[in-house]
Amino acid sequence: MSISNSIRVEQLAPAIGAEITGIDLAAGVDDAAFGRIHDALMAHQVIFFRDQTINPDQQMALAERFGKPLYSKKLKHYGDKYDSMSLLENDGSKVAVGSIWHADNTDFEEPPLGSLLFCEVAPRVGGDTIWASMYAAYEALSEPTRNFLDGLSALHDNSNVQRRYAGKEILKMDGTDVAMPAEHPVVHRHPVTGRKALFVNANYTQRIVGMSDIESRHILQMLYEHCQRPEFQVRFRWHSGSLAIWDNRCTQHHALDDYNELRRMRRVQLAGSKPMR
Ligand code: SIN
Repeated sequence: MSISNSIRVEQLAPAIGAEITGIDLAAGVDDAAFGRIHDALMAHQVIFFRDQTINPDQQMALAERFGKPLYSKKLKHYGDKYDSMSLLENDGSKVAVGSIWHADNTDFEEPPLGSLLFCEVAPRVGGDTIWASMYAAYEALSEPTRNFLDGLSALHDNSNVQRRYAGKEILKMDGTDVAMPAEHPVVHRHPVTGRKALFVNANYTQRIVGMSDIESRHILQMLYEHCQRPEFQVRFRWHSGSLAIWDNRCTQHHALDDYNELRRMRRVQLAGSKPMR
């Protein structure tokens, strides 16, 4: 009997998020089980597993089922052997990585497909992460606004990130890391599901192409506020052994910076593709 038969997918919120039970990821994931997990990710955009015991090699192997792990240029590597696995370790004394609404690295020409984030150590309380559905955000806009946004493009770069983390211990910024803008559609079509998603975020999006500063600033600000509506969100409380896998093409997330005990995470990002209308 395939292990896929024991898998259960429980939706956590109307717009986004599901918890997957009935699978021990350390015991291996056969093709049928992977198919169920992948389908759940496409349907729910972020999926969660609890009480898992996967080691770094098993996390890398699972990541490779979804795509190609990305070399981690800016963050500390988990160890010499793992240059595609970042160590996100904080006791509240440093700026928490991702503690602002964002999709990951939309400053890249090909932003990441998604990430697998495993919790080794969680604070007793705090350090939750919130995800928001950019499908739901797009679909909740009025039709005239959707039509207006559909044809627009925006420039994304990492200058906000550089300012926010400059000189901080947690990032290994190097001289090659100057902000090179990437241009992406403001609304793109997900390459697997075909659904449209808003694709601007406060961390990386700088301006809407062809607009004056004031137009671009106010439209982006309106969209950021809209994207933060609680109906589009799911909030996850970490425990050691929790794993989240998210689709970066249709979500944003925010890691809460509200703890002062150790939070130790392993993150693998997956290579993505150029967003298309
Ligand atoms: C991230 O933004 O990738 C980090 C998320 C987290 O630590 O919860």
